[in-house]
Amino acid sequence: MAQTGRPEATDTSGHPAVAIVGPGAIGTTVAAALHQAGRTPKLCGRTPRASLELRDDRGRVLVPGPVHTDPAQAAGTVDLVFLAVKSTQVRASAPWLAALCRPDTVVCVLQNGVEQEAAVAPFVPGCPVLPAVVWFPAEAQPDGTVRLRGEARLTLPDAPASRTVREALSGTRCSIELAADFLSVAWRKLLQNAVAGLMVLSGRRAGMFGRADISRLSLAYLRECLAVARAEGAVLSDEVPREILESFHGYPADLGTSILADREADRPLEWDVRNGVVSRRGRAHRVPTPISDVVAPLLAAASEGPG
Ligand SMILES: NC(=O)c1ccc[n+]([C@@H]2O[C@H](COP(=O)([O-])OP(=O)(O)OC[C@H]3O[C@@H](n4cnc5c(N)ncnc54)[C@H](OP(=O)(O)O)[C@@H]3O)[C@@H](O)[C@H]2O)c1
Repeated sequence: MAQTGRPEATDTSGHPAVAIVGPGAIGTTVAAALHQAGRTPKLCGRTPRASLELRDDRGRVLVPGPVHTDPAQAAGTVDLVFLAVKSTQVRASAPWLAALCRPDTVVCVLQNGVEQEAAVAPFVPGCPVLPAVVWFPAEAQPDGTVRLRGEARLTLPDAPASRTVREALSGTRCSIELAADFLSVAWRKLLQNAVAGLMVLSGRRAGMFGRADISRLSLAYLRECLAVARAEGAVLSDEVPREILESFHGYPADLGTSILADREADRPLEWDVRNGVVSRRGRAHRVPTPISDVVAPLLAAASEGPG
């Protein structure tokens, strides 16, 4: 972690100075929300770009760059880092975290899963690490732009560090909700992500949930995930599996999921944080997870091979 790097400090508007590490689909959406409000963040990525572009039904937002790619060259710590790399890329992004964080920097992790804090905290000792539930679908397009499909919305734990995130995003198009029972919200989203993983195994988009056989399989899988979530302390009703399935029935047939986009591009999959976690936590609580125990190894093999 940077101890002596010149702090960029709070920007002149009084809002926290922000860096986005991982300016992909989610990072670009948050960067665009900040830029539209006159609070352009520092962009820290892997692939150099002159700018970022977000498109949605309302038009386009061009976020001026550059996307910095060398942590040693991007001087200055910030008040708030949005970490929006994939969970498989956290370790590789550690040099960015070291360069941008001082001990009071808030690190808000914009990733799926329920284990963000444990995964990121070792790389930012002393910094508050906040998990966030990301509710909006955003898709990186082949031309490098990002398509936002829905309203930008995050849920954070009702914790002191969340104030910094609220201040940073106040008055922007990205709304923030604070959850007193964040664990339950995060597990509910995890159930949604876990079942979305079935799209990878079929190579199909959300329309596949219209099939009766897939609906039955999804419900059984969701009930299994619910049992693990409850064993972890989540308070979720018996209705949650059916509610999630119904939401999939309501999605546009061509709606994908980021793990499907990764599979289609032959990139590593976030199978462990989205699906493997159900088997792992189930084993710890002695909750049987027979469907997860089939789904997770198939996703792992799709991600990592060999073959
Ligand atoms: N997309 C969605 O709709 C959605 C919805 C809810 C939650 N999520 C979750 O949000 C997280 C981010 O997903 P995403 O879809 O935004 O992923 P993404 O589009 O792949 O974005 C990841 C970004 O991180 C960059 N990156 C990779 N390694 C890096 C490194 N070492 N240092 C700095 N930047 C690095 C990538 O750069 P390159 O351009 O070089 O690849 C890319 O710009 C995931 O956990 C995902 O599950 C996504």
